[in-house]
Amino acid sequence: MRDQIPPDLRGRRARDPFWVAASALFNGVQRIRSLREPVIPAVKPVDRTRVMLVQEVRREAADVVSLRLGAPDGRMLPAWQPGCHLDVLLPSGRRRQYSLCGDPADRRSYRVAVRRLPDGSGGSAEIHDTLVEGASLTVSEPRNAFPFLVRDRYLFLAGGIGVTPILPMVQAAHRLRADWRLIYTGRSRDTLPFLDELPAERVTVRTDDEHGVPDCADLLADAAGAAVYCCGPAPMIDGVRAAFAPTGGATLHFERFAPAPITDGRPFEIELARTGVTLPVPADRSALEVIRDALPDVAYSCRQGFCGTCRVGLLAGDADRRHPGDAAPDSLLPCVSRATGGRLTLDL
Ligand code: FES
Repeated sequence: MRDQIPPDLRGRRARDPFWVAASALFNGVQRIRSLREPVIPAVKPVDRTRVMLVQEVRREAADVVSLRLGAPDGRMLPAWQPGCHLDVLLPSGRRRQYSLCGDPADRRSYRVAVRRLPDGSGGSAEIHDTLVEGASLTVSEPRNAFPFLVRDRYLFLAGGIGVTPILPMVQAAHRLRADWRLIYTGRSRDTLPFLDELPAERVTVRTDDEHGVPDCADLLADAAGAAVYCCGPAPMIDGVRAAFAPTGGATLHFERFAPAPITDGRPFEIELARTGVTLPVPADRSALEVIRDALPDVAYSCRQGFCGTCRVGLLAGDADRRHPGDAAPDSLLPCVSRATGGRLTLDL
């Protein structure tokens, strides 16, 4: 056949000169294009932590110290708003959240305050007993789970160390020339940090030793028309939530330092896949608590579903996710998530 390409001496077909020239041209063009096109680097996860220097440790009240943190090279820090907190990674590996309680206009340092919790899990004791000026700490960028909204009228309710997120809110309300009041509660005056930074004419101090344990309806007596911001121990928050509706308060915003009690849980099981151990989770305990009994070193922090520290792979089972931050299908937050049915198999 005339247009059949003859084989070469080794029996292979001779290459068509047209296609040889066309493919050389194509390869050349591709090479030139690749030289012109920008090289797109692989996407790397963004590390939003930074190492900071403890510039100052100050005793603020009985069992409360504040830490002032700055960049080792003194450079400006990311901005923050009232209500923001930092995730702090302690030298032991413990991770804890602390509200920023300094001045948001100060871009060279952050301030947090920590009360020593005698029956806590060691984070506050580590800070009190081991952190000194000049020490290094790894912290996250500020995050806000307790946003401060611009309103004409505020009622702030703070219980003890719960004053830390409230303090910059009070200062912001003052700058806004809003109508605001703060009721500051605690065991006794010497346990209340930052009293000297608050304008006495707008602050009512109610301590247990002078006034008895406060009634939450009394705390809300002046709530009508106000945005109410509350931070303190769990019973205080629960009491304020229960008493809020009839007060005429405009909105209620609160931040917990401890998880809410589980009131509507059902028992289920978790299987720890790496060991095959199965553990029963009672109705009134979280999966995280039960896991910690078996694996005391498991990482956790807020125990309320917002920090993500406890996230663990979910290998089998249907999860009842109880926090908007717990949406990934192949993992869950055992501090808040439960099982819809009998068992969850976790990558632990
Ligand atoms: S400990 Fe913070 S999300 Fe579970």
